[in-house]
Amino acid sequence: MARVALVTGGSRGIGAAISQALKDAGYSVAATYAGNDEAAAKFTDETGIKTYKWNVADYDESKAGIAQVEADLGPVDVVVANAGITRDAPFHKMTPEQWHQVVDTNLNGVFNTVHPVWPGMRERKFGRIIVISSINGQKGQFAQVNYAATKAGDLGIVKSLAQEGARAGITANAICPGYIGTDMVMAVPEKVRESIIAQIPAGRLGEPEEIARCVVFLASEDSGFINGSTISANGGQFFV
Ligand code: CAA
Repeated sequence: MARVALVTGGSRGIGAAISQALKDAGYSVAATYAGNDEAAAKFTDETGIKTYKWNVADYDESKAGIAQVEADLGPVDVVVANAGITRDAPFHKMTPEQWHQVVDTNLNGVFNTVHPVWPGMRERKFGRIIVISSINGQKGQFAQVNYAATKAGDLGIVKSLAQEGARAGITANAICPGYIGTDMVMAVPEKVRESIIAQIPAGRLGEPEEIARCVVFLASEDSGFINGSTISANGGQFFV
């Protein structure tokens, strides 16, 4: 039986490339999305990957959604916590709402996605937790106090889960993408984006597929001794 992979925010951007790459690698894939029905329907038409709509910021919705995925496809073996949003503003202009929206989706969303599948992974003695963090969780970013805090939080989550899951055959790792050519990065004002690209030694934005290939490796049986680690995929922009 094919292993089952759940990808949050899996119908667009980096998430869509991850869903596709996992499908190509033989997984049964469930991709979640928050609101864009049209994009999700198009994604399913084009890829044959089933999509599910729920808000990762809501624990009960996540739990119910995951129960539906498991009823449809079987127990979830691989979780890719990818769903994320930005609400960029310099700190003196950042509103409590912008802070909470980002924390609710990017950080609480990881808890809400992993917590419901954790007991089953422990019982079955296999699991792969892959959290999509960010270069900006490693280095901080002007106008991203909220986003950087959540992405740094992701690293604390995987380092702790790695210790708790290791004996049960579960690994937890993070990937820190640099600037990838998705809608999120294209939403940055053009002038700012150009100045960012100038800071990338590779001289270009990354491609979603370059992150997806890291995910496929971390999801595999072969990666079993890699646990609590962070893979940076940023074109040489930042080293830890
Ligand atoms: N470093 C230092 N100063 C900066 C700066 C930076 N990176 N970016 C902007 N500034 C300065 C501007 O030059 C400007 O200075 P002056 O007032 O002296 O001209 C000031 O900060 C900005 O002031 P504004 O009041 O005009 O700012 P604003 O309220 O209009 O906000 C912004 C603009 C939201 C900061 C916008 O510039 C922006 O979106 N910047 C990009 C932030 C960013 O990189 N986000 C990453 C998104 S992609 C992502 O998050 C994916 C991932 O994981 C990598």
